[in-house]
Amino acid sequence: MAHLLSTSYTLDISSGSKLHSRRLYQISKVLPSSYILQTSKSPVERLVLLGKRPKRSCTVRATTLPLSQEAKAQPSSGSHQTSTGPSEPKRVMVIGGDGYCGWATALHLSNKNYEVAIVDSLVRRLFDHQLGLDSLTPISSIHNRIRRWKSLTGKTIQLFIGDICDFEFLSETFNSFEPDAVVHFGEQRSAPYSMIDRSRAVFTQNNNVIGTLNVLFAIKEFREECHLVKLGTMGEYGTPNIDIEEGYITITHNGRTDTLPYPKQASSFYHLSKVHDSNNIAFTCKAWGIRATDLNQGVVYGVRTDETEMHEELCNRFDYDGVFGTALNRFCVQAAVGHALTVYGKGGQTRGYLDIRDTVQCVELAIANPAQRGEFRVFNQFTEQFSVNELAALVTKAGEKLGFPVETISVPNPRVEAEEHYYNAKHTKLIELGLQPHLLSDSLLDSLLNFTVKYKDRVDTKQIMPSVSWRKIGVKPKTIAA
Ligand SMILES: NC(=O)c1ccc[n+]([C@@H]2O[C@H](COP(=O)([O-])OP(=O)(O)OC[C@H]3O[C@@H](n4cnc5c(N)ncnc54)[C@H](O)[C@@H]3O)[C@@H](O)[C@H]2O)c1
Repeated sequence: MAHLLSTSYTLDISSGSKLHSRRLYQISKVLPSSYILQTSKSPVERLVLLGKRPKRSCTVRATTLPLSQEAKAQPSSGSHQTSTGPSEPKRVMVIGGDGYCGWATALHLSNKNYEVAIVDSLVRRLFDHQLGLDSLTPISSIHNRIRRWKSLTGKTIQLFIGDICDFEFLSETFNSFEPDAVVHFGEQRSAPYSMIDRSRAVFTQNNNVIGTLNVLFAIKEFREECHLVKLGTMGEYGTPNIDIEEGYITITHNGRTDTLPYPKQASSFYHLSKVHDSNNIAFTCKAWGIRATDLNQGVVYGVRTDETEMHEELCNRFDYDGVFGTALNRFCVQAAVGHALTVYGKGGQTRGYLDIRDTVQCVELAIANPAQRGEFRVFNQFTEQFSVNELAALVTKAGEKLGFPVETISVPNPRVEAEEHYYNAKHTKLIELGLQPHLLSDSLLDSLLNFTVKYKDRVDTKQIMPSVSWRKIGVKPKTIAA
């Protein structure tokens, strides 16, 4: 059913490549699974190749490809700092492991001697092709990334290429890999993307909600002890005029008291998909005894982790465009190319933020300290909160220190959101588990700015301004990257 649903609509994009891309999209959804994909091909070419196969199916083990400079496989050193010992290796499936947070996390967990499998449909790379976008950093194919990791460390990461909305594919990955924990990053994660037009709104909710539902069914059916670590977002809560708690709030009403899920006020079809996910997960914890941790993550910044720094082929993606770029990363690129920092509206919008090095730490902590059977645990995953104006001021100061002047402009806010508001969100549970935050310091900002300067020739300045309006979303497919 999920498979049928996922094939029932198309995406239209910029006129020049309309038919081609629509077909690719359909192919990727009809034939979401894998086969051995040639590492020399681009993601788009691979999807075309997939279209020539008569039958959909299966999994890829990229690590079986020959390696020229492969290091000897190293025995587990038991270096899990926060988890089980070497005699009890944990098998962790990282869904969305080719993406920004997922790639860094997969490497980090592999480095900590977890057995890691990446599951990814590569649809994020397809979005770039559809919208004419690109990562600031050149990124290697997932196959080359994994081979490079193996050659540097001797560690194997298994690879399953396919769409988790295809339950048959997901079942095969579960039965083949037998995960103890699933970290689920594998969603369409851009609020602007979900607000481009009807088809992207439907795609986002279908992809995210059905994908997560399939993961829940796969755990129930095949791995009932498996711990689900699901990436949610702080955006699920919105900006209420009271403190934001971690998942639950105790309320006394008409003399009676109860602890209830914290109210959700999402403000895009993407954020709403996360709320729907959270509800489905909470229900299945209760009904089936699933163990789950919902990580309501703040906005992630930065690009380097210990592992991605090991080789340029391990470099992570870095989005700066108006659709996928997140606030601080976008500002650093804008400063690097001499573009004024684009503050939306009044700039008082305040959110939780964290360094990508803390994303990987938090996920590891969640895996190492699993939820109980039937428990739906919620952690707010961020380390500091900033308003957009505060971030702009920090980047301006860092830019001046490095010798380039930075200007800020206010642009009309494409979103529907409060531009000045109260914001105080709790985030103590991961600290209690041992999180040691990397706070946003001058030196980090300097290095992030220097990093963006290094790649500034790759910046397409046409992609900087916001191009998606919350109010103007309509039924008709839209071209956004003209
Ligand atoms: N980046 C942030 O600042 C941020 C903030 C809060 C929450 N999150 C959440 O963290 C998760 C990861 O975010 P990211 O920035 O790494 O996103 P990303 O787009 O870089 O990565 C997501 C990955 O999931 C894959 N994917 C998507 N749908 C899939 C499907 N149906 N089947 C298999 N693979 C699929 C994509 O191909 C991509 O590689 C998302 O769930 C996002 O909502 C991210």
